[in-house]
Amino acid sequence: MRAEELREMFLGFFESKGHTRISGASLIPENDPTVLFTTAGMHPLVPYLLGETHPAGTRLTDCQKCIRTGDIDEVGDASHLTFFEMLGNWSLGDYFKEEAIVWSHEFLTSSEYLGFNPDKLSVTVFEGNDAVARDDESMVIWKKLGIPEERIFALPMKDNWWGPAGTTGPCGPDTEMFIDTGKAACGANCKPGCSCGKYFEIWNDVFMQYEKTDDGSYIQLKQSNVDTGMGVERTIAMLQGQNTVFNTELFKPIMDTISELSGKHSTAETELAFRVIADHIRSAVFVLGDVRAVSPGNLGQGYVLRRLIRRSVRYAKQLGLNEGFSKPVAECIIDNYKKAYPELDASSGRIITELVDEETKFEKTLNSGMGELNKIISRMKEYNQTTLPGRVAFKLYDTSGFPLEFTEEICAENGFEVDKAGFDKAFEKHKAVSRQGAEKAFKGGLADASEETTKLHTATHLLHQALKTVLGDHVQQKGSNINVDRLRFDFSHPAKMTQEEKEQVEALVNDAIKADYVVDMDTMTIEEAKEQGAIALFTAKYDEQVKVYTMGDFSKEVCGGPHVERTGSLGRFKIKKEGSSSAGVRRIKAVLIQE
Ligand code: ALA
Repeated sequence: MRAEELREMFLGFFESKGHTRISGASLIPENDPTVLFTTAGMHPLVPYLLGETHPAGTRLTDCQKCIRTGDIDEVGDASHLTFFEMLGNWSLGDYFKEEAIVWSHEFLTSSEYLGFNPDKLSVTVFEGNDAVARDDESMVIWKKLGIPEERIFALPMKDNWWGPAGTTGPCGPDTEMFIDTGKAACGANCKPGCSCGKYFEIWNDVFMQYEKTDDGSYIQLKQSNVDTGMGVERTIAMLQGQNTVFNTELFKPIMDTISELSGKHSTAETELAFRVIADHIRSAVFVLGDVRAVSPGNLGQGYVLRRLIRRSVRYAKQLGLNEGFSKPVAECIIDNYKKAYPELDASSGRIITELVDEETKFEKTLNSGMGELNKIISRMKEYNQTTLPGRVAFKLYDTSGFPLEFTEEICAENGFEVDKAGFDKAFEKHKAVSRQGAEKAFKGGLADASEETTKLHTATHLLHQALKTVLGDHVQQKGSNINVDRLRFDFSHPAKMTQEEKEQVEALVNDAIKADYVVDMDTMTIEEAKEQGAIALFTAKYDEQVKVYTMGDFSKEVCGGPHVERTGSLGRFKIKKEGSSSAGVRRIKAVLIQE
């Protein structure tokens, strides 16, 4: 059975049980601010799980595109994916455990539907804790259906509780269904949930009766819901007798394309790279092709997208793939999915342009890092050194985005080692600096890390420099407070600003925005920052490491971030108010207008 037959069979089965078929939602959630991406079918339905009336009724069925990047480092094993499709049936305060489990069992084992051998089916239920009792009800239902006790496992919250992906929201105990792949058990403790590959999870029925609240407690929901999720990729792998999702028709063509491009086959040595590239480019294609598509960037969803693409470029290097590899790989994915997801075909031009752009940008970064590293290596040879200091490796990573694995590989090729402990130490130090920076910035008053606030923060740097240029070098920051709506900036200046001065400042800031400067970040000692003419309140010790943000030749300032990537994204800068804050201190309130 192929994926398209499975989708249709599932939706049809639940229609025959009184469910209405609804369309899947966007990958970028509209209703659920607790997650960056739709990580499960429940996100678009949260308001209805909480009791709002759904226009299509109380029994729904759908196929939902999902992205989960929490497990990104596990991609490469037999079953983990960052993008997957989830089939679901929903009861919004309608039926509960009995029907849900009986229908799951029927769909899985009946020869009219998936026809899995019931002897290969194992299930798990919630074992209970102080707050919620063991799910004996589900256990009894499974037993009645003929699943013997030794294949029903009661597991703790970390396995059998579907919690909100964010901190609050609807949740409840679940019962999960696993197919035994026939692999030998890895030990006496091997059971569903074990990562050895014997048990393959394909479906989860969640009994959403609770809501997790702000204080971490669970309250009973107005209605008892059922939320189920069957993984399309995993289920067809099992139906096709494959022990990995990468051998199904959803991945085979992608793997073949990578093979053709690289001239290599997926072997024990190259398998990880093949899988990561196929998975990550597939996810990137779906994010870029979504109706609410985002572009690669430094914040939120854009950052996750960037990370997926950059990770795939790193693995592409391992296979010796040439620059531009992402285009044919993406074309193959779009071709493979366009029937089920016409939106991919409709925006294929944009998907490929954005993907290749980001790939090229990162290739440049890697090449410049490579050039820098080669110079370092020559010097090391000259001085007969054999270990690359950790802080040098960290500098390459931090300022050029050059991954440590690459540094290690290239060093190894030259018979050198990298001082990893030193790298970790430099990393920790950097994190401490960022934290300190963030704290400073917060005291300085950044209300949140949203895109709007971040934009206003970048605009504050431009304003600071513009005030110095127009009013004079005596201007010093005395305070700053930024939220999503406006920036507020206090600075030393003895007189009320004239209309002309205000207009000059606005014009300077808007010119800097139009110049679309790249916002560059570098780490250095405060002494170095001072030498480079950076704006700073020089209260730190002279040898303390700080971050310096530079925007073209217009602005350079010591700061903890965050900032946007380019000034061009800010919109139009406008001063709303200028007045006195205290003796010798003026206060400006300003906004960014998106046109
Ligand atoms: N929300 C449940 C899951 O994603 C069905 O596993």
